[in-house]
Amino acid sequence: MSENPYVRAAALSDLEEDTPKRVEIDGVPVSLVRTEGEVFAINDICSHANVSLSEGEVEDCAIECWLHGSSFDLRTGKPSGLPATRPVPVYPVKIEGDDVLVSVTQES
Ligand code: FES
Repeated sequence: MSENPYVRAAALSDLEEDTPKRVEIDGVPVSLVRTEGEVFAINDICSHANVSLSEGEVEDCAIECWLHGSSFDLRTGKPSGLPATRPVPVYPVKIEGDDVLVSVTQES
C-alpha cells in the first residue's frame, strides 16, 4: 500500500502541555496529548463507558478518566487500574514542522 495514512490532526503550537485536545480524524475521536516532550494520540472514548478521555487529567504519561478514575498509559493505551480492564487504542504520531500527523488506520 503506497497511500500515506497520516492525516494532519492539529498544529503543534496549538497543543498546550498536559492539556488534551479532542479532534476527529476520519470519523475517529482522538485525544491529542502533548506531554514530556512528545505528542501522543489515544482514542478519546474510555474503554469502560462512553465518556471523553480528553476531559481528564494528564499525569506521568497517562490520561485519567474523569468519571471513575482509571488511568490509561499514553504509550500503550493500557489501563493501570480498575474499573477499566480493556486498553484504549493508541495511534502513531509524526511531527513535521508545526504539523501533528496521526494515522488512525494503524494502531501502534
Ligand atoms: S467511564 Fe472511564 S473509568 Fe469508568
